[in-house]
Amino acid sequence: MAVHPSELLICPLCRQPPQAWPVDPDSLTCSNPDCRRVFPRLSNGVPVIVPGSVDSILQVDVNRDLPSMARWLVELNSLTPGEPTWDSAVFAAMYLSAHYGGEAEPFTALCDLLLPRIPEPTQTAVDLGCGPGRLTLEIAHRTGCAVTGLDHEPTNLYWANLAQRSQQLVWPRLRSEGLFELTQADVPVSPTPGRVRWICADVLHPPLAASAFDLVLAVNLLDSVRDPWVVLGQAVALIRPGGYLILAQPDSWSRSLVEPEHWLATEDGQWDALLHRLGLRTLERVDSIPWEMARTHRVRYRYRLHGRLAVKEG
Ligand SMILES: C[S@@+](CC[C@H](N)C(=O)[O-])C[C@H]1O[C@@H](n2cnc3c(N)ncnc32)[C@H](O)[C@@H]1O
Repeated sequence: MAVHPSELLICPLCRQPPQAWPVDPDSLTCSNPDCRRVFPRLSNGVPVIVPGSVDSILQVDVNRDLPSMARWLVELNSLTPGEPTWDSAVFAAMYLSAHYGGEAEPFTALCDLLLPRIPEPTQTAVDLGCGPGRLTLEIAHRTGCAVTGLDHEPTNLYWANLAQRSQQLVWPRLRSEGLFELTQADVPVSPTPGRVRWICADVLHPPLAASAFDLVLAVNLLDSVRDPWVVLGQAVALIRPGGYLILAQPDSWSRSLVEPEHWLATEDGQWDALLHRLGLRTLERVDSIPWEMARTHRVRYRYRLHGRLAVKEG
């Protein structure tokens, strides 16, 4: 049976046409004889397919069973609040809570409101900047399609991959500013064996075939990358003609993340015009979906997500 283009990978180094790479549990090797670049896998089997060095990515590869989780908790609680490892644990915990800790309404609301407006069955999707993967799993669960979750953070992909395989997750969450505790939550989406794959890659150089996807999602991504225009261009390139884009974010551009000259749009009309210039037509908008990120039991950040479904004109 022919392999669907969405399953084929592109080497981000030589950018030869998409091809099926020899399957190896430890690594992937580009099939172009002039390149033969070897891409390693994280300890959970997720491939790291980036054009540059993978050393810093492999350094943060995690694999935590419950005993090592308990040791990790002790380690986190001995750190000085504010140091980089402590900060990244807080950040990861906030996203895990947002995805699996009963605060995932924005993801379910986006699916409830936008997926029914797609007038045809969706076979293939990619969730760009998937974080710990809740939306990726929702899409697979609700549409039955094959979904790729792509992120450049191995920690996110560790949790995403674990959520896909587990009914319950346990993770360290900040109880108060100086104290982590273990928390647990059920994974509310049924596992979808074989229909979800995770790739550790850079959304600026996605190792995915152009025009291969029925649906591309970029949720809370554009306003957290340095070059949102390039990311949006890459997202649009991955959609097949006649395929769909789901975009959503708070539209609260922050100077600390994106230079003001790269801010894309803040109002519906601007987004419509921008997407129109890229060959897309807005089909549906959803406004002001509440999104809370809990830092501790007492501190919560509140956002409103503004989303849209657009079709890429064929
Ligand atoms: C604000 S978070 C949103 C995560 C998830 N989509 C959500 O809505 O909760 C942005 C995500 O994009 C990922 N990301 C940022 N820049 C990226 C890049 N250049 N390539 C791949 N992933 C990236 C981050 O690791 C993070 O998981």
